[in-house]
Amino acid sequence: MSKKLNLAVFISGSGSNLQSIIDACEAKDYPAKVKLVVSNNPEAYGLVRAKNANIPSVIINHKSFKTRHDFESAITKELTKQPIDLICLAGFMRILTADFISQWPDQIINTHPSLLPKFGGEGMFGDNVHKAVIAAGETQSGASIHYVIPEVDKGRLIAQISVPVLENDTYETLGERVRAEEHELYVNAIKKIAVERT
Ligand code: GAR
Repeated sequence: MSKKLNLAVFISGSGSNLQSIIDACEAKDYPAKVKLVVSNNPEAYGLVRAKNANIPSVIINHKSFKTRHDFESAITKELTKQPIDLICLAGFMRILTADFISQWPDQIINTHPSLLPKFGGEGMFGDNVHKAVIAAGETQSGASIHYVIPEVDKGRLIAQISVPVLENDTYETLGERVRAEEHELYVNAIKKIAVERT
């Protein structure tokens, strides 16, 4: 197999997507490895997941910086300590500036818990998405993996999967069903990119 893709995974919370990426990377033939986990939230459970897997992590708390530029400069400083090929946003709840994104052309991807372009954009994240899907009476939801561009949730799609919205769904039950599919979707999307590029 050719060279593995070096990943930096950005998280803010539970990190269940991070876990599925870590698990996939354990397979010898999976074409990527997690080199660094970046969290803006010191309390993120994903940091425990990284530690358990012996993956270096860094907390860059946005609250400690005066400007988004300063926050992102601190992230960049960490990223440039080693070769990173792909940044995977996995429940990272900060919007990245155009400035930062332009430093990583086609090298930042994100997972979003809906069938984009539906239920995307600013304010649509995490459970808010599932609540909005249920409130709108949708019968299908899903997850989307896409490239990150400055327009929130508008970048080119890499992969998408549908899941049914059931009559008695709460945002929690729908969220669980979406996440179960999202985990596999994300792992497969990273693999697809790795195979294309290495
Ligand atoms: C995931 O469902 C992800 O799609 C969503 O947050 C959840 C994080 O879960 N991301 C967004 O809504 C970004 N707009 P996790 O921390 O368990 O991976």
